[in-house]
Amino acid sequence: MTAAAAAAPPRPILEARGASRIYRLPRTRPFARREELAAVRDVTLVLHPGEALGIVGESGSGKSTLTRLLVGEERPSAGEVRFNGVDIWDRHDDRARRDLRRRVQIVMQNPRMSMDPRLTVGASLMEPLRSLRIAGDHEARVVEVLEQVGMSRAALNKYPHQFSGGQMQRLAIARALAPRPEVLIADEPVSALDVSIQAQVLNLIKSLVRDLGLGLVLIAHDLAVVAYATSRVMVMAGGLVVEEAPPAELFRRPRAPETRELVEAVMTVEAGLQGRALARHPG
Ligand SMILES: Nc1ncnc2c1ncn2[C@@H]1O[C@H](COP(=O)(O)OP(=O)(O)OP(=O)(O)O)[C@@H](O)[C@H]1O
Ligand SMILES: [Mg+2]
Repeated sequence: MTAAAAAAPPRPILEARGASRIYRLPRTRPFARREELAAVRDVTLVLHPGEALGIVGESGSGKSTLTRLLVGEERPSAGEVRFNGVDIWDRHDDRARRDLRRRVQIVMQNPRMSMDPRLTVGASLMEPLRSLRIAGDHEARVVEVLEQVGMSRAALNKYPHQFSGGQMQRLAIARALAPRPEVLIADEPVSALDVSIQAQVLNLIKSLVRDLGLGLVLIAHDLAVVAYATSRVMVMAGGLVVEEAPPAELFRRPRAPETRELVEAVMTVEAGLQGRALARHPG
């Protein structure tokens, strides 16, 4: 390898460059001017292959809107989203956006809402392989990913109502992995689950992305959740990125007031849990 090649920084796989998303709100009365809301403002995000990036912020800070921009579900009002260096909304070339549909997969907050209750799990998990026109034996691929998430092939012929919330989220993760993505985006993947199984599902995501070498964008309102599974965290507030640092740094030296609040929220929960533990085991 030449010195120049060794020194070249790796190319980001997914980027937002100065991306904004402005929504026009419905009129409050006839002929009134429609107000605008900037849900995401001038956000720059860079994800390298295999990297785990966290996005944290309170409700309404713009996390899910940013996610929709990153997966190409919505178009930025300003700025760009790039996949492998190519603007996914390039008028002359829709290859980057088509590519992104397979290579970036998403896991949502509520696994029940993300799966059709009338379809068997097998049908739901094979559907993306069919619509993305992926070659090969779809059923064999689905059985393979079921094993990766700790479920058996018996799940294939069952229906969503036959599974617990945690199992459903495992199935949703399996469905996301089936098309062999390079990036996994998880938007509040554990916040709808029982506290007792949140750690299991988070551990599963963490070990899968590591073993498969995937990039991860993990979104949560809880700083402890993103800190546990990522090496760099962006803090959002009011559509803006107010701080970006490794998680340990955010805990040690939070600079933005919004970061400080998120750190305090974690401390409060921990103090509460310790208080409970102490109450249970006096002395
Ligand atoms: N389609 C839309 N039309 C109008 N406003 C929207 C739309 N989608 C989101 N918003 C607004 O944009 C802001 C950001 O919302 P968003 O859902 O991205 O936040 P979030 O950080 O994901 O919140 P939560 O933690 O509750 O999921 C909010 O004020 C929301 O009401
Ligand atoms: Mg959200």
